[in-house]
Amino acid sequence: MVEVPDYLLERSRQRRAELTGAPPAEDAPASADAPSPAAPAPAAAAPAAPVPIPEAAPPPPPEPDPPYVEAAQRRKRMPYWAASVMVFLPVWAIFYVGMLEPPATDELVLADNGAAVYSTCASCHGADGSGTATGRQLNGGELLLTFGSTPDFDGLAHHLSWVYLGTAGTKRLGLDFYGDPNRPDGQREVDSFASGMSGFSNLSLEDLVSVVYYERVVHGGLDAEKAAHEEEMLLALVADAPVFESGSPDEISALLTESAEGHGIDLAAGE
Ligand code: HEC
Repeated sequence: MVEVPDYLLERSRQRRAELTGAPPAEDAPASADAPSPAAPAPAAAAPAAPVPIPEAAPPPPPEPDPPYVEAAQRRKRMPYWAASVMVFLPVWAIFYVGMLEPPATDELVLADNGAAVYSTCASCHGADGSGTATGRQLNGGELLLTFGSTPDFDGLAHHLSWVYLGTAGTKRLGLDFYGDPNRPDGQREVDSFASGMSGFSNLSLEDLVSVVYYERVVHGGLDAEKAAHEEEMLLALVADAPVFESGSPDEISALLTESAEGHGIDLAAGE
């Protein structure tokens, strides 16, 4: 198994944290400090006509409180207005959590997860991506010749689509070629290798994007800046959790663009 470089895992974790929002722990106290609208109420009540209250019988001389009661009384009290804040806290918490991304990306570290998913592919493509008699070579620059992104070609979307559909699924969409039309030795023809590849539409979206990211970074040697950009795009897609209809390159490309825009990702950054 090819190791995922540490810096990728670390960056992956940071990206994930950014995408899922700041940890709630840092934001929560701010609201508790906010003055409650209920606060002035008792002041308003004060000027009410003073009803003469008959002087109560003088209280019995106070018994000295047992030490545990005294301790309890010395303890800092919650200000009375905090009660109303407490009542609304659960509502606010639900609202706050609702604004965060769906939890899907919380635990997802693409390079890490992708390494695990790739074990499904290694029997044909080799653990290091050097290919076998039953699967094409992915390393040595081959992968990015087929699926590298250029301003004219959304390699990431085409790569996702290829793995999702495989040989037969791609043919079924009426496509006879896959990958970059400008590949130096000509665009790849579907089913031009010794054998075909099955589609992996059974993978979860998380696993699909993870294994694609893993191949691009570990076998393809995608440079760090492009990898960071693609990872953002993929995490945004996972966060939006779209369901593919055909899984065609065009459909996936449109979905990637849509979720990137929805998450404020600069699309030009990857080119
Ligand atoms: C049964 C063997 C087999 C398995 C398992 C397999 N592949 Fe493939 N893969 C192939 C073959 C064969 C091709 C070429 C297919 C064709 O030409 O129609 C291919 C092509 C590819 C390509 C395109 C490479 C290029 O430059 O043309 C990618 C990317 C790829 N596979 C990724 C994967 C991933 C990711 C997995 C695991 C989720 C996987 N493969 C599992 C056999 C396999």
